[in-house]
Amino acid sequence: MQTLYSHFLFLCFSCFSFVSLVHSWSQNQQFNQANNYEGSSNLVNLEYHMGPVLTAPINLYIIWYGHWNPTHQSTIRDFLYSLSSPAPFPSVSDWWRTVRLYTDQTGSNITGNIAISGEYYDYKYSHGNRLTRLTIQSIIKTSVSSYPRALPLNYHNGLYMVLTSSDVLVEEFCRAVCGFHYFTFPAIVGVTMPYFWVGYSGSQCPGMCAYPFAWPKYSGKPPPGSSGVDNIMGAPNGDAGADGMISVIAHELAEVSSNPLVNAWYAGDDPTAPTEIADLCVGVYGSGGGGGYVGEVYKDSWGNGFNVNGVRGRKFLVQWIWNPVKRRCFGPNAMD
Ligand SMILES: *[C@@H]1O[C@H](CO)[C@@H](O)[C@H](O)[C@H]1NC(C)=O
Repeated sequence: MQTLYSHFLFLCFSCFSFVSLVHSWSQNQQFNQANNYEGSSNLVNLEYHMGPVLTAPINLYIIWYGHWNPTHQSTIRDFLYSLSSPAPFPSVSDWWRTVRLYTDQTGSNITGNIAISGEYYDYKYSHGNRLTRLTIQSIIKTSVSSYPRALPLNYHNGLYMVLTSSDVLVEEFCRAVCGFHYFTFPAIVGVTMPYFWVGYSGSQCPGMCAYPFAWPKYSGKPPPGSSGVDNIMGAPNGDAGADGMISVIAHELAEVSSNPLVNAWYAGDDPTAPTEIADLCVGVYGSGGGGGYVGEVYKDSWGNGFNVNGVRGRKFLVQWIWNPVKRRCFGPNAMD
């Protein structure tokens, strides 16, 4: 669940516990220890710990916290619609097929049916602009209890996604995490429901959370092909922050679906710092990816990178997921 990432930063995409990150490591050590498993590996001890996975059709509720650019919102919505809608191969729903390979004790697969079932606009920053992990749960509580436009409290098959705008600081955001998933506590929200959070990183830390559309400032290396110009990968929907968020949303969605109560699919012996199905493939977007190289991806006619197609002609770049059958990271744009 906590992730070391290959662009020279120790980056925890989805820790639910704040593991202290090893800031003292040299960049080289961090680089060398970056994990990725594009090649088949029997060293990965991904195990099922008997808990539930999200097998019922998911009702996804979006909570837009803060001030949002409508263009970024529609990019994100289109990505979510694409999860269960047809689009030319390789599509977002083809990408989700890898997640659907995970089952629970009864042999039921993770659902392929994800619908946006409600949206809540918390444009008044109900809990301020400096949030902790627990205040994210309070934001969910506000969204399900506000008058007159509350989201339903759907503890049967609801999944709550909190997205914070560029001006919102979240505990550990940009220092260690780009997003995380967990479940709500009855003491705060009233019931236990899976949720995840992702922050807009476009202005706070694009090099960390909107990679590979932005270059990590402290990588110790210049951007590739830099001759005064940033020659890094263009974002397929025109905004490094929103396009970068989509890969983090994809990552969290895969993990919350396969480990919603943090007792289902993960690797590692420490349940407070599990390595989940997307953590194993951070930084890998295509064949050959890993160690700072994104892998074989496509370029649109403007030269922007992408690896899957979505609804309305959209293109997205999402990281690969650990495939439990092939025992390697995999995506529909794989060359083999
Ligand atoms: C369900 O999971 C099993 C085990 O990974 C897999 O063989 C099967 O194809 C999956 N079904 C779907 C619909 O994805």
